[in-house]
Amino acid sequence: MKTKESWGTRVGLVLAVAGNAVGLGNFLRFPAQASQNGGGAFIIPYLIAFLLMGFPLLYIEWAIGRHGGKSNHHSTPGMFDVLGKSRVLKYIGVFGLFSNLTIAAYYCYIESWTLSYVFHSIIGTFQQIAPTDFFPNYLGIHEASLFSLPKEAFFWFVLTLALNVWILSRGLVKGIELIAKIGMPLLILFGIILAIRGLSLDNSNPGVVQSPWIGLNFVWEPNFSGLTNPTTWLAAAGQIFFTLSLGMGSIHCYASYVKEKQDIALNASSAGWMNEFVEVLLGGSILIPIATAYLGLAAVQESTAGGSGFALGFLTLPTLFNNWGWFAPIAGAMWFGLLFFAGITSSMAMGQPLMAFMNDEYKISRQRSAILFGLATFLLGFICVWLYPGGSFDEFDFWTGTFSLVTFALLESLVFAYIFGIDKGWKEITDGADITVPNIFKFVIKYVTPIFILLVFVGAVIKPSTDWLTAINYLFSGKGWPFATDSVIGVIFHVGIDKYVWFENGEPTREFVKDATRVLLLLTFFGFSFLVYKAWKKKNSTKIRGAN
Ligand code: ALA
Repeated sequence: MKTKESWGTRVGLVLAVAGNAVGLGNFLRFPAQASQNGGGAFIIPYLIAFLLMGFPLLYIEWAIGRHGGKSNHHSTPGMFDVLGKSRVLKYIGVFGLFSNLTIAAYYCYIESWTLSYVFHSIIGTFQQIAPTDFFPNYLGIHEASLFSLPKEAFFWFVLTLALNVWILSRGLVKGIELIAKIGMPLLILFGIILAIRGLSLDNSNPGVVQSPWIGLNFVWEPNFSGLTNPTTWLAAAGQIFFTLSLGMGSIHCYASYVKEKQDIALNASSAGWMNEFVEVLLGGSILIPIATAYLGLAAVQESTAGGSGFALGFLTLPTLFNNWGWFAPIAGAMWFGLLFFAGITSSMAMGQPLMAFMNDEYKISRQRSAILFGLATFLLGFICVWLYPGGSFDEFDFWTGTFSLVTFALLESLVFAYIFGIDKGWKEITDGADITVPNIFKFVIKYVTPIFILLVFVGAVIKPSTDWLTAINYLFSGKGWPFATDSVIGVIFHVGIDKYVWFENGEPTREFVKDATRVLLLLTFFGFSFLVYKAWKKKNSTKIRGAN
């Protein structure tokens, strides 16, 4: 069965692809990461990581995607299967299913907060209840037990998921493209209005409001000190992965729907640059400048600890909007509306590859596969909603939104350059290209990008709790390596947890919830591997029967 689906228009394609990239990461995660890692000190490693790792990976993923589409594969197991002879390759592609589903599960939850916050901004909730009281309550963090379902959050999560399923069931052109054409211009418009409003804050009384430009300068003023700090590099590379949706399997999927000889180089570049424009210019001009103007830089840095931006986005900003009088509900609706559009155009891109897998490899119709995607996301997402206070959500974010992306990207860069072959790969990137791709990228893709990702991978595994020089001194003085609590080893071995027990006073502990979540994620990965195994077994037996 040859899939007939392809993109309707070039504008629709570019907006859908940019919508995939532009997401919550641009407006929440980027400002928080920039703030945590020294503002301008973060920006330089960030831009270098974009050019040496992000951009080449965009080309690689687009090329693998269009190449796979030619043999009617729109999800990564099939695409990787046709990159070489080894039967193992398709299992590398399992990452592209696993990440999309597991990220969608917690990402749709954040997306649902934004939808609910649009509603609450409009009805004026935050003028009556302080967001600092509202948000923990909403997430169920106030409850005495780790196991009570936050009902309102659950309701908005189901609604958001249903919206995603409905859009996906309408197909590429009438669903994804249409929403991207509406959502992208609106989010940019809302972003520009908020940035202008924020940057023109009246600071004639600096005791109350400082200049918003202090925050902007902090983000943008280049500071070369970050270059010598591996931790800043790790944070910058992690942000590049997340913001461009690299190593997820969603870019491959979108690229597989372009026509055989249609350009991919310009598409990849324009989506990449558009994402950076929205991230650095808009993402950097709202949260930090406004919050810094009212609260000062130190308070902003404190509230971005952890690097997610949730505190600034969901607690601080709605509180500060209350200073804006009649404009407060509108500003709130715009801010959370912007986040919602950014989120939904990204979560759709997580659903499509899974539907494509069901459709291509199991011949399941679009409507049914959309519903199955919804059900699977619901089951995993329910765990994130229910066990948010227990730490499930953070486990999902760490293993799927961080570790899995880097692992898949490392494997795919090696497969592309050394198994598929850089010459074939380069031809795939440049065939039909509407721009001249500088030849230097061939060298970068073959040598620089894999080494860059390898360093990021190793760095993430062993990240120390001290600075790197001190850690090396520790090691050589026989004190061992001080693993950071958020290094891969640190997370696996619960470093920094005083009392590692699964049960206390008859109740499961946070450590139990975390370990159980990891088992669930592992089972999900194996489950997908099994589905791939079964699909290929069926295909092979059909082929053998055909040959007889
Ligand atoms: N790239 C998407 C984001 O930034 C996932 O949120």
